Amino acid sequence: MQVLTFKDYEELSANTAGFIADAIADNPSLTLCMASGSTPALTCDFLVKKLKDDKTDYSKFSFIGLDEWAGLPPTNTGSCHYFFKTKIFEPLKLRSSQYYLFNAQAANLQKECRAMDQLIIDKGGIDIMLVGIGMNGHIGFNEPGTSFTALSHVAELEEITKSVGQKYFDGPVELGKGITIGFGHLMNTKKVFLMANGSKKAEVIKKTIEGPVTESFPASIMQKHTDGFILIDEEAGSLLKDQ
Ligand code: PGA
Repeated sequence: MQVLTFKDYEELSANTAGFIADAIADNPSLTLCMASGSTPALTCDFLVKKLKDDKTDYSKFSFIGLDEWAGLPPTNTGSCHYFFKTKIFEPLKLRSSQYYLFNAQAANLQKECRAMDQLIIDKGGIDIMLVGIGMNGHIGFNEPGTSFTALSHVAELEEITKSVGQKYFDGPVELGKGITIGFGHLMNTKKVFLMANGSKKAEVIKKTIEGPVTESFPASIMQKHTDGFILIDEEAGSLLKDQ
């Protein structure tokens, strides 16, 4: 695991987008799995711009959404689906056959999970994952206590995840479960980027990098990944020993 620190959110986002855009240029048919949320929002904008400016062929890569709030329709402006539609799929005019997201309204969410697991196998695994970190150390909806070998699954969400999650919605919304790609897939992913910005993430970043590797603090799994990167701004890294 390597830690790369950038001056601020803008530099962090531009560099993260650069890593991904360069990887797509090198391997146009790669499979990218991404989280939505406040953290990667600016990365998406830079990524779209860079792929277009560099005239990269982005018609062949595959996109997989990391997770979704169970029960939400893709039209809900707080859904992960809506985020990716407006920030990646429409700006890049991706074909619908190029992207894969959990159907969080499926009658059988377990079946939805197994379909995602099969899709990842069919793609030959995920090449790049870009994830964020929650205030309880979660990655996607892999909440504290999730097995490091879990595949796609439906997760009970902690209160903090449900209350912090309100920020994505226009008004109060009742959030229940989440559907998410699990850590078995993260560990099999060739390269994983975990990004975080701002002083509110300093404590969880310290635990991720310097704390014990334990399922009770999910992001600590990054210490076990042989090609894992923690991408942070100076504020998120402000509590690290070496700062
Ligand atoms: P955020 O979410 O990027 O909106 O801070 C991170 C997360 O909860 O995974």
